[in-house]
Amino acid sequence: MTKKLFIETLGCAMNSRDSEHIIAELSEKEGFVTTDDLKSADLILINTCSVREKPVAKLFSELGVFNKKKKEGAKIGVCGCTASHLGEEIIKRAPYVSFVLGARNVSKITEVLHKEKAVEVDINYDESEFAFNDFRTSPYKAYINISIGCDKSCTYCIVPKTRGEEVSIPDSLIVKEAQKAVENGAKEIFLLGQNVNNYGRRFSGEHEKVNFTELLRRLSNIEKLQRIRFTSPHPFHMDDEFIEEFASNPKICKSMHMPLQSGSSKVLKDMKRGYTKEWFLNRVEKLRSVCPEVSISTDIIVAFPGESDEDFEDTLDVMKKVKFDQIFSFKYSPRPETEARHYTNTVDEDTASYRLTTLQNLHTDIVDEKNKEYLGKVYSVYFEDLNKDYFVSGRSDNNIVIKVKGSDELLGEFRDVKITEIGRAHVELQSRGHLVC
Ligand code: 5AD
Ligand code: SF4
Repeated sequence: MTKKLFIETLGCAMNSRDSEHIIAELSEKEGFVTTDDLKSADLILINTCSVREKPVAKLFSELGVFNKKKKEGAKIGVCGCTASHLGEEIIKRAPYVSFVLGARNVSKITEVLHKEKAVEVDINYDESEFAFNDFRTSPYKAYINISIGCDKSCTYCIVPKTRGEEVSIPDSLIVKEAQKAVENGAKEIFLLGQNVNNYGRRFSGEHEKVNFTELLRRLSNIEKLQRIRFTSPHPFHMDDEFIEEFASNPKICKSMHMPLQSGSSKVLKDMKRGYTKEWFLNRVEKLRSVCPEVSISTDIIVAFPGESDEDFEDTLDVMKKVKFDQIFSFKYSPRPETEARHYTNTVDEDTASYRLTTLQNLHTDIVDEKNKEYLGKVYSVYFEDLNKDYFVSGRSDNNIVIKVKGSDELLGEFRDVKITEIGRAHVELQSRGHLVC
């Protein structure tokens, strides 16, 4: 009888790709097939996120539900970033969990499956050259990891502690994976890394010097590949060479994620982001000067310790100046093993909520204004999803989600589409699923 795997993925796009790797390994080597029915699963996996506190709390409530509903003899495994940072504590708190597998140990999934109470969470483990089996949720768009880990030390961020130090995947492997995805029908690839434009800083073995700009050039030589997207680049590494390649390479989609985090140079310093408000605005100006059609999205944290009203005003000021097409905004959430956790000048909850609402309201006004510009314009759309009610949706080069009436014949196809109606349900910039950083 085939064994059934139920997998729930929380968090960012890297977690989604890790889940695809897990499914690939378990189906090729262990004969599992995936199921959406928890009760019939022989193996239940939860791929976790730890970037903020909420998803961690969610883990233990989810585990309780899984344990109640699972069929007799089914195993439960915890993977991902929370697995990395809580390790065996997970088994202590939820003794029915069979194994814990860290975000940097994905290739060991078939090993831990057979070891009762295994905890594999080594953040120095190097799987940058591991040849994973192949599985993709969508044949149209291929997520491809280009690096693992993160070398930055942003003071609020737990990621370097859960995914370890940054190692780039050799460019030849990335190109090969992209070629394969394209042969299997993907016209678009989505490159993933915690800090993609730091690509090439360190490889696991001897490797020629290849930076992110050069990687983009090499990938765009793949003939049938039509679109390249990536996330997340770091504003600190946005040099002119990178921005100019972004603008001039027709295969690179004109949507840039620029995680601001804060508009205050003082807060940015406390966050150890490595740039100032002026640098960020200068990079936006450079980008828009060479690529006026670019859409820009960002991540913002409000109420970081020590953030004064003036600091927050600086964030609003950057919002007004840049007019981001999309924002992902969060209240600061103290995380274990981070530097900021020890900062005592915290911002009270009411102020944090007020700032988040103010920021989001300002952004809604900006987007409402920007959305009007789309009416009547024609965009080339790559269709990826079949929705209910005979709508097919896809994205423009600059990341607008566009829906048309249609059938699955449109999937994996490009069409020129004229925008006739605007609404949050019809035109909205793509959610990056979740973020990388
Ligand atoms: N608190 C709130 N937001 C955070 N992020 C990362 N760490 C924290 C934290 N401790 C946000 C950042 C990052 C995004 C993925 O999550 O904005 O870019
Ligand atoms: Fe790395 Fe991004 Fe976290 Fe900074 S916010 S440490 S760049 S993962």
